Amino acid sequence: MFDKVLEEVEQQCRAERIPMLGPNKAKLLASCVEKAKPSIIVECGTAIGYSGLWMLRVLKTLGTGRLITVEIDTNNAHRARDNFEKAGMADLVDSRIGDAAEVLKTIQDPVDFLFLDNNKDGYFACFKAIESRLTDPATIVADNVGRADQMADYLEHVRSNYDSETHWFESWRRRRGGNEGDNQRERRRDGMEISIYRS
Ligand SMILES: C[S@@+](CC[C@H](N)C(=O)[O-])C[C@H]1O[C@@H](n2cnc3c(N)ncnc32)[C@H](O)[C@@H]1O
Repeated sequence: MFDKVLEEVEQQCRAERIPMLGPNKAKLLASCVEKAKPSIIVECGTAIGYSGLWMLRVLKTLGTGRLITVEIDTNNAHRARDNFEKAGMADLVDSRIGDAAEVLKTIQDPVDFLFLDNNKDGYFACFKAIESRLTDPATIVADNVGRADQMADYLEHVRSNYDSETHWFESWRRRRGGNEGDNQRERRRDGMEISIYRS
């Protein structure tokens, strides 16, 4: 059942153009979770639960850990909750609705894994909002670091203070402004930043 739900969520994201991590980045994210064996993952930017499902599958296999995921769009958050339920993962997820930078301030538990995939100019505010709860060490994964200008404050901070590594991904997509019959494609380069936080 889990695999079927994950496949359906991926198809819905593609059909409705809902941003999602995609399988290549999701595999890297899952491998980070596998390595960190976290007690609590905080995700900023749930969308309809694609990346959440990838992380939950690892937690289920590890037999430990839970996910707190935050989404500002109520409709997306409800769809994600349904998807977690259908995949049999609801008991491992605390799904919250609101601005991640505000919601993170209310988390009291120690957090050993942070995944940033919300509004790109909000990454540093989210990091600051949760910093006092981060364990030493804690893994932080940030998506879309190819858009460095939108998160310059965040990248400057993690790259100058912690072990931090950029993983680059290349993909092809239909040229912006192109239509269905237009085969012109453009190469796209984007990255994920993996940082090991230490206090
Ligand atoms: C790139 S998508 C997330 C994709 C998701 N992580 C996945 O791979 O399936 C970004 C999401 O962040 C949400 N978002 C944008 N600003 C936000 C904020 N301030 N707080 C929480 N979520 C936000 C958007 O509504 C959108 O659903």
